[in-house]
Parts: sequence; C-alpha cells; structure tokens
Amino acid sequence: MEGAGIDLAVIGGTGLYRLAGLEDPVAHRPDTPYGEPSGPVRIGLLHGSRVAFLARHGESHSVPPHRINYRANLAALQQLGARRVLALNTVGGIGDRFGPRVLACPDQIIDYTWGRISTLCEEPGTEVLHVDFGDPYTPALRAQVLEAAHAAGVEMVDGGCYGATQGPRLETRAEIARMRQDGCDLVGMTGMPEAALARELGLEYACIAIVANWAAGCGGAVAQITLQEVLDNVEVASAAVPAVLREMLRQ
Ligand code: HPA
Repeated sequence: MEGAGIDLAVIGGTGLYRLAGLEDPVAHRPDTPYGEPSGPVRIGLLHGSRVAFLARHGESHSVPPHRINYRANLAALQQLGARRVLALNTVGGIGDRFGPRVLACPDQIIDYTWGRISTLCEEPGTEVLHVDFGDPYTPALRAQVLEAAHAAGVEMVDGGCYGATQGPRLETRAEIARMRQDGCDLVGMTGMPEAALARELGLEYACIAIVANWAAGCGGAVAQITLQEVLDNVEVASAAVPAVLREMLRQ
C-alpha cells in the first residue's frame, strides 16, 4: 500500500484521536529514517477519497508535545503517499477574535519551543536546507480549507499567528502577555516543528486551530484552565470539522 496515493492526511491533536466516518481503516506502521510515528497511520475512505489519519499524541494521548517524533510522523505520512497534510491543533485563544470554540486557519507562526529536533538536516553529512518559511502554511492549501469551510457553512477565522510553546504545562499570564505583544493570536504546543518539517519534506501543510480555552489572563477569564474544559470545548468545536473535510475532498 506504500506510495499508493492519499488525497489528504489529517493529523489530530488533543481530544482528536479518531477520524469520524473513516471507512474500512487499515492501520499502517511504516518504519521511517527517523524512527516510529506516534501511533498507527489509519488509512481508509472518506467520502470516496483515500484519507490517512494519525493521532499526534498517540491514540491514548500518551506522547507529550516535546517528545512527539514530528519527523517520523510526517515522513510516515509521506512514505504512505500523502502530499497534503491538514493539521488539527488544539489551542488557547489570545486575540479577541479567538475565544473558546472558535475555528481558525492561521497564517503565521512564532516558535518559542526549544530542544526539539526541528530539521531533517540533523544527521552529519545531510545536506543543509534553508527552506523559505515566510508563509509557514501552504497558501494554496489554506485557501482550500477556507473555501471548504465557507461551502460547508462553517465559521472559520481566516488568519492569525500561532505561537508555539514548549509545554506540557500551560503558560503564565506574563508569558501570554509577552506573546500578545509579539503578535500571537493563538497558543499551542505542537505547531512547531511540525510545520517547518512539512516544508522541508515538500508537503503541503495547513492548520485548523481549534480554540479550547482562553489563554492565561485573556478574555477576562479568571478561573484556572482545566483539562475537562479543554476537552469539552474541543468536542463541541471539532464537530464542524467533518463537514470541512467533506468539502475539501469534493474540491
Ligand atoms: N496553551 C497552550 N496550548 C494549549 C492551550 C493553552 O492555553 N490550550 C490548548 N492547548
């Protein structure tokens, strides 16, 4: 089945461990030059198209953001025939337009992560790539996502800057205040190095950010952020994602 071609690969984040409606999924565990992906890549049919799904944190949410083998995940999808990758990322909202349960298709990234292997050019002797990353998400794929959302009648914010933090803890209010000053609208822990690696691999890559909570000190929120709040909001907001996928596969 390797290389047979996949119309769309979807990477699911926190609270998104299965792809609803994926028919006759077959689990693949390809070996990659970078090691093993977070879990099986499940390939099946969605609205008649071949779609792959991978749970970024593993299917039982056991891999923390800084320990995810981002290189193996993307290489596995590519080896299985994926050319375009849609990342679903659970995030906190910083900007006023990005409250809980909002869906957004960000167009910029600021990377605050550290100590993660963030390039394919790590091994000695590998040719060093300096890929263009001015538009970290593939503009054509972003346009497809936004058009699909529109066609499906799903509200989605067009744009926004995703600030990628190290996790797994959430941020302090001061950290979020600094990120806001930097221009971040959203905060999540897994947007990088995934996007950069996708670019190095030559994959088309876009993100649907699912806002689970107000980031620390934002939106007038004073209560502590709980995992239950995150999961509840992700469940509600991500209910619209299948309709967006349906329209994307129709395009
Ligand atoms: N910060 C970082 N990552 C997140 C958050 C947050 O507030 N919510 C969901 N993922």
